[in-house]
Amino acid sequence: MDKNTINAAKSIPAFYAGQSIFLTGSTGFLGKVLIEKILRSCSDIKEIFILMRPKKELSLNERFEKMLNLPLYDKLREEQPSNLKKLVAVSGDTSQENLGLSAVDRQMLTERVTIIIHNAASVKFNDSLKYAILTNTRSTRDICILQLTESIKNLVVIYVSTAYAHLDNPFIEEKVYPPIADWRKLIKVAESLDEHTLNVFTDKCLNNIPNTYIFSKNLMESIIQEYSSSLLCAIVRPSMGT
Ligand SMILES: NC(=O)c1ccc[n+]([C@@H]2O[C@H](COP(=O)([O-])OP(=O)(O)OC[C@H]3O[C@@H](n4cnc5c(N)ncnc54)[C@H](OP(=O)(O)O)[C@@H]3O)[C@@H](O)[C@H]2O)c1
Repeated sequence: MDKNTINAAKSIPAFYAGQSIFLTGSTGFLGKVLIEKILRSCSDIKEIFILMRPKKELSLNERFEKMLNLPLYDKLREEQPSNLKKLVAVSGDTSQENLGLSAVDRQMLTERVTIIIHNAASVKFNDSLKYAILTNTRSTRDICILQLTESIKNLVVIYVSTAYAHLDNPFIEEKVYPPIADWRKLIKVAESLDEHTLNVFTDKCLNNIPNTYIFSKNLMESIIQEYSSSLLCAIVRPSMGT
């Protein structure tokens, strides 16, 4: 077997050994903890590229430095300081097409990354439909397209959804549910209509879905389902964690 071939039967640290991860949502609740856990427990990981954007008057580098100094990483800093050096910040914004990646970063990621964890999302229930679809749904489509790129066809992608993406079901099974709407049409609508106009149609689009967050996550799952016949991918659906 080729040494880069991923065998799911290996232990978790063995699975991650030598792999290069691209993680979105690295600055959030789940992302920060995931980074700590992987760097501490899977110390043979090669590198983790983390998608970040400037925020609250902090540049990307300032945010990155601030994050590295969090108490969450104290143990790593003390016991495995070299592992923190495996983190590489990449500039991007999931509300932009192709995650706002520069051509140079995109090229670098396609050459080096072996696992993508698409965890970023705007988790506000009251986002405009336009913003929720562009940030949460279109970014998922763009990662699927990236994954389809010839040069990285063995890439594994883990998409972080939510246990609440299918609220009309009393039990959520480990399966993908039928789409509630046509994700292609909705991405097109979100791209072409201005925010105000789309706000007028939001209730009609949502039908019985309680908010734009759930709606955008539900659509996200149907994109993955559609691409899954040709891609190595998985959907995880966390429940409430905060
Ligand atoms: N925590 C839970 O209980 C829970 C439950 C179910 C599902 N989930 C799912 O788990 C994932 C992580 O959730 P979380 O609780 O960690 O949320 P969070 O703390 O709000 O973090 C969200 C992450 O997404 C990033 N993000 C949001 N909009 C972005 C944009 N336009 N461009 C780039 N990055 C952007 C944020 O970056 P900034 O720091 O730059 O804003 C942050 O890193 C989400 O997909 C969420 O739907 C979470």
